[in-house]
Amino acid sequence: MAEATLYDVFPYRSRSYVESHIDQLYTVGHLFGMKPAPVERCRVLEIGCADGGNLVPMAELLPDSEFVGIDLAERQVEDGLKWIEPLGLKNIELLHKNFKRFPAKYGNFDYIICHGVFSWIPVPEQPKLLEMIRSRLTPNGIAYVSYNTFPGWHIRRTIRDFLMQHSSGLRDPDERVAQARNLLRFLHDASSDETSYGKLVRGQCQGLLGTPPQYLLHGFTAEENHPMYFRDFVRMAAEQNLQYLGDAEFGLMMPDRLHPEGRRAMENVPGGIIEHEQVQDYLINRAFRRSLVIQQDVQLERSIPWEVVESLYMSARARLLKGEIDGVGEARFDGPDHWFQTDSPILKAGLSVLAAHWPDNMPFDEWVARTAERTERPGIEVRGMLGRNVLPMFANGVLRLHPRYLGLATEVSDRPLASPWTRRRAELFRWVTDLRHGMRNVPPVPRFVLQHCDGKNTLKDLRKKLSDEHRLGRLTVTPSIEQGLSDALEGLLERSLLRRNEL
Ligand SMILES: C[S@@+](CC[C@H](N)C(=O)[O-])C[C@H]1O[C@@H](n2cnc3c(N)ncnc32)[C@H](O)[C@@H]1O
Repeated sequence: MAEATLYDVFPYRSRSYVESHIDQLYTVGHLFGMKPAPVERCRVLEIGCADGGNLVPMAELLPDSEFVGIDLAERQVEDGLKWIEPLGLKNIELLHKNFKRFPAKYGNFDYIICHGVFSWIPVPEQPKLLEMIRSRLTPNGIAYVSYNTFPGWHIRRTIRDFLMQHSSGLRDPDERVAQARNLLRFLHDASSDETSYGKLVRGQCQGLLGTPPQYLLHGFTAEENHPMYFRDFVRMAAEQNLQYLGDAEFGLMMPDRLHPEGRRAMENVPGGIIEHEQVQDYLINRAFRRSLVIQQDVQLERSIPWEVVESLYMSARARLLKGEIDGVGEARFDGPDHWFQTDSPILKAGLSVLAAHWPDNMPFDEWVARTAERTERPGIEVRGMLGRNVLPMFANGVLRLHPRYLGLATEVSDRPLASPWTRRRAELFRWVTDLRHGMRNVPPVPRFVLQHCDGKNTLKDLRKKLSDEHRLGRLTVTPSIEQGLSDALEGLLERSLLRRNEL
């Protein structure tokens, strides 16, 4: 019988991480010239899967792929199994296993995900984890390993040292979290908001006070937390015969998101991808990384020919912030974290074609055809213009790339359909996984509606259910049931929570 871990006593309620989705891993590998396994038919392992919050929604939407999750904390695995059983999923197993003794009979994997584990295990185990990943990765496999990193973790470590010194004597996890919060408040209030150091500490404390108890307990009051520099991670991976493929968030590898001086300065930085990324970490004080690693002998193509995007799918919310689509001059589009500006009529039209189709995606060829129709320009010209600009727009964040069709609803149907996993999660939690694997905070009325979007309830049924809730005083629906339902469904649609009824 294995010993109970702190995660058994105080479980880590897991969630989905969009960057760890195998869609992302495939996309980065494909861009750099790899031939990764198709996400619709592959084998996936998650190490340290906790209660499956990241793996189960992936398995649900990719029924012909096979998913295995392992975790050292038995209780978390049992909690996860309770979620899987009612969903009737046959393509996923959660196992109570130590990565150091993961039986060979489970075979090798095309994708391995290891989120929030590497920094939280003892230092001598870190190379062993990488060695295990290498030994279980197929020749074209891609592994995702996230970790805390310097320089961003220097200031956090100062705060963590303070919290550790004054809370490590407490055995009860709840008491430790309460103490950590008191200490953070103390540090915040006692730090000057007139010095640079004080401002830095206050900002960090404020951020940490907003994080969930599990993060504070395991990240700031528990023994194991070992950040490292990116270059040291790459070196350790190489010692285990793994090579660095790229960052799971492609845009963070590129200087595109730096401010203009930073972008200009990066042009003169010598060295290759590793040196460049390490310098950028200093420029943005990066504290967390999501690195993709692959077998050492895979040949990569770092200068990406734009034609590789021809086999991918695109989507963009791209709200127009400034300018006109069809008029002359610049237009500015809103990305998830950055805006994108262009005066090219083809790019403006291309983004507005995708925005009209949001949240669903479309294949490159269809995008070209629709944009050519809209601009009345020759297809060949449109193809080249869009194709050459896909990567800058992807790096900037305004456009997203996908290896498969998402099948998201672009209008509310008479029988709205959400994923069974998300419907069940919405019964208990405000934050749920959307169909792009991101986390969404859903307010009470849409959250209630979401639970009943099973593809069988009609709009009339949903109206009746909402009206009953309102009448019984369990929900307040304004300004009317009709409008409340319509707003809720539009909100769910916009948040990528509704699927097409037929695919
Ligand atoms: C910080 S939690 C992260 C959980 C989840 N991946 C997430 O990010 O939401 C670390 C997880 O790694 C698991 N873990 C730690 N050591 C492990 C080992 N040797 N083998 C398997 N799992 C391990 C813990 O039980 C815990 O669930």
